[in-house]
Amino acid sequence: MAPKLTFLLVTLSLQCLLALASDPDPIQDFCIPNPELSSIVKAARLGVPPCKNSTEATTDDFVFSGMKTAGNFSETGLATIPVNPKNFPGLNTQGMSFVRADYKAGAINPPHFHPRATEITFVLEGSVYSGFVDSNNRLFARILQQGEAMVFPRGLVHFQMNVGDKSATVFGNFNSQNPGNQKIPTAIFGSGIDNELLQKAFGLSPEQIVTMRRRFDPKKLVKA
Ligand SMILES: *[C@@H]1O[C@H](CO)[C@@H](O)[C@H](O)[C@H]1NC(C)=O
Ligand SMILES: *[C@@H]1O[C@H](CO)[C@@H](O)[C@H](O)[C@H]1NC(C)=O
Repeated sequence: MAPKLTFLLVTLSLQCLLALASDPDPIQDFCIPNPELSSIVKAARLGVPPCKNSTEATTDDFVFSGMKTAGNFSETGLATIPVNPKNFPGLNTQGMSFVRADYKAGAINPPHFHPRATEITFVLEGSVYSGFVDSNNRLFARILQQGEAMVFPRGLVHFQMNVGDKSATVFGNFNSQNPGNQKIPTAIFGSGIDNELLQKAFGLSPEQIVTMRRRFDPKKLVKA
């Protein structure tokens, strides 16, 4: 192949990779969502700008005060406060978001992944077993101590468990304002996939499948 053509192809494919690698670049300093609009689609249809006029933005739009303390703990001992443009307008179009997570002793964040973001997890307090599995099913995991951080590459399954005897607090930072969160147990057993397929996939009996579906049905509506 001619060197020029090769160069062109390589450049083009690199550009594709870059274009797919993160949220779109902002086209203005910031975009405080226009409160009168519920979505960009609606805004486009009405011909109204999706961002507030920048002269109406205030410092409050760029400060978030809602994570000084832990969120509400679930039955399993995990409390998360996701912070994104819905509760922190100044983040909109900046390609970032984050979460505060508090774990009671022994609590877990089950295996899950973020389809649109790499995550950096930072342990503010406690000892947290943290890890991910790559696409060759290789496990990368260890106990992180206070002050340590770990990266979970984009789209890879990862998890955490508080292995200390006190509560743990971690911050997760995402390179997308909308990372998405697909929890493996719920995606598999709580989404309504055909029982026969699940039995064959996991080598489980019909009764075991029903048990799993009950456990992970988000609405707890599955009958035996
Ligand atoms: C934003 O507000 C300023 C001051 O009120 C005004 O001069 C400007 O035209 C507005 N811009 C847009 C795009 O509406
Ligand atoms: C915790 O629950 C209360 C009561 O339902 C609610 O008002 C509050 O917003 C919740 N806090 C968080 C961080 O979700």
